[in-house]
Amino acid sequence: MSAALKLVDAPRRSVALEVRGVSHAFDLGGKHLPVLDNIDLSVAPGEFVALLGPSGCGKSTLLRLVAGLEQPDVGALLEDGAPITAPDPSRILVFQDPTLFPWRTVWKNVAVGLEARGLLPAHKQRVADALSLVRLEAFAQAYPHQLSGGMAQRAALARALVNDPHLLLLDEPLGKLDSLTRLAMQNELVSLWQKVGFTALLVTHDVEEALLLADRVIVLSDRPARIVTEFLIDKPRPRRRDDADLVHLRQTILATLGPVHD
Ligand SMILES: Nc1ncnc2c1ncn2[C@@H]1O[C@H](COP(=O)(O)OP(=O)(O)OP(=O)(O)O)[C@@H](O)[C@H]1O
Ligand SMILES: [Mg+2]
Repeated sequence: MSAALKLVDAPRRSVALEVRGVSHAFDLGGKHLPVLDNIDLSVAPGEFVALLGPSGCGKSTLLRLVAGLEQPDVGALLEDGAPITAPDPSRILVFQDPTLFPWRTVWKNVAVGLEARGLLPAHKQRVADALSLVRLEAFAQAYPHQLSGGMAQRAALARALVNDPHLLLLDEPLGKLDSLTRLAMQNELVSLWQKVGFTALLVTHDVEEALLLADRVIVLSDRPARIVTEFLIDKPRPRRRDDADLVHLRQTILATLGPVHD
């Protein structure tokens, strides 16, 4: 296996993301529905940015635009200076629901991206590497119904990581997990990000999660989403949930988001 294809210890392959003056609206049964309002956002290579905002404000829409699944009405999105015009395996979206194929083993679910691109025969080792990154080696031959919720979500992360994403787009990836599994997975996500070195954009409803994971937390307004404010989280990892600064920041952010949150 060539060094460039190793998932860990390879040269860091993160990218810079730039969202410039992006506005977007949908047509909802003939009604004009503005969803994003002049979003300007720069994410540095390897940075971990969290997005917080009210339900329905446009967070998933923003991730879909970054993924290249849709084009904005106004403005531009750039990856390392190049316009994002279509989906690309270097930018992968991970959702709340792991959406594994029930008839495929974990190994075959993780392999699906490489298989679709005709890369699997030469790069089977990457599947093993991705499974080992999420500590699922022993479950390679299991089927999705034989996994716990946390394991299924780890399999979904492995399925993303096998493609060596430069930009990982995480749309409430831990939202459906029970609270203890969620806490464990938050630590796993940080450790994956530290090991692999991708740029990360995480949407979450959980302020504490944003504070534990991200270098920067961006707060969006109600729809149409505008950037209200951002907070730099200049704290080494691993971070403690009961860190006095983070507890204080959590209160500040909750106050910014309004009483419906928490
Ligand atoms: N394809 C679409 N066509 C029409 N309207 C859409 C479409 N996709 C999203 N919307 C609308 O855009 C708005 C923003 O949706 P989006 O999914 O981006 O919100 P969100 O911030 O991710 O919400 P949540 O926190 O609940 O996941 C919603 O009002 C939704 O109804
Ligand atoms: Mg959403």
